[in-house]
Amino acid sequence: MWHGDRTALVTGGARGIGLEICRQLANGGLRVLVGARSWEAAEEACRAIGSAALPLALDVASAKSVAEAVREAGELTGGIDVLVNNAGVSLDGDLRPPYLDEEILRTTLDTNLTGAWRMAEAVVPGMVEVGYGRVVNVTSSYGSLALMDSGRHPAYRISKTALNALTRMLAAELAGTGVLVNAADPGWTRSGMGGPAAPRGPEEGADTPVWLATLPDGDGTTGGLFAERKPLPW
Ligand SMILES: NC(=O)c1ccc[n+]([C@@H]2O[C@H](COP(=O)([O-])OP(=O)(O)OC[C@H]3O[C@@H](n4cnc5c(N)ncnc54)[C@H](OP(=O)(O)O)[C@@H]3O)[C@@H](O)[C@H]2O)c1
Repeated sequence: MWHGDRTALVTGGARGIGLEICRQLANGGLRVLVGARSWEAAEEACRAIGSAALPLALDVASAKSVAEAVREAGELTGGIDVLVNNAGVSLDGDLRPPYLDEEILRTTLDTNLTGAWRMAEAVVPGMVEVGYGRVVNVTSSYGSLALMDSGRHPAYRISKTALNALTRMLAAELAGTGVLVNAADPGWTRSGMGGPAAPRGPEEGADTPVWLATLPDGDGTTGGLFAERKPLPW
């Protein structure tokens, strides 16, 4: 499928699942802004992807960086049609509640929840203005309340539960605007975060996020949580 003049911005796009999302979106015909904290890493990723990819320095944990990156993205491409909030950290190690590491909780929420929210605040008004937008929040089945059966990775899981809630709220607020907002679980995927033993490769991990990022005109799918292109319980 060819997506014409559309531009996508992928946070954390220089490695792991994010890099593969960038590659698949570029292969699908989108112009892709590869957001990364390191400009050099973003540039290297763009060289690997090809001429449809442009590097963008972007730290989602910094409001200043988000504002500067979105302004630069506008200057480079004229606007952002697709936002993939992929950047994420998992810092809990073996910690489990009731033990609380406040610094880990703060840092995790600041990236995984507030980072995505900052990006939405900066990008969504432009989407509403043109009556088209796709927002994909890359979440995890670990954030699903329905599937929450242990205290493993508490800060990470709570950050993804909250990201799922943001997905629902944003979708409700944007109903009828042409902006579709969904959450995608890539599944346990080989990457820096997933490690080498994960059963899924980056191509499989990127599939559901890319599907939601390129929902065709007329598709009303919004406010959903999906894994392997199928609904996942909240
Ligand atoms: N792998 C899995 O099994 C799995 C399963 C479920 C969900 N997920 C989700 O999938 C997404 C991608 O994860 P991954 O597996 O590809 O992990 P990864 O290999 O560890 O990559 C994480 C990405 O997030 C970026 N990032 C972290 N903090 C950032 C910040 N403040 N600003 C901008 N970018 C930041 C990293 O950039 P740097 O290079 O600058 O560090 C990197 O590009 C995450 O949201 C993760 O929670 C992964």
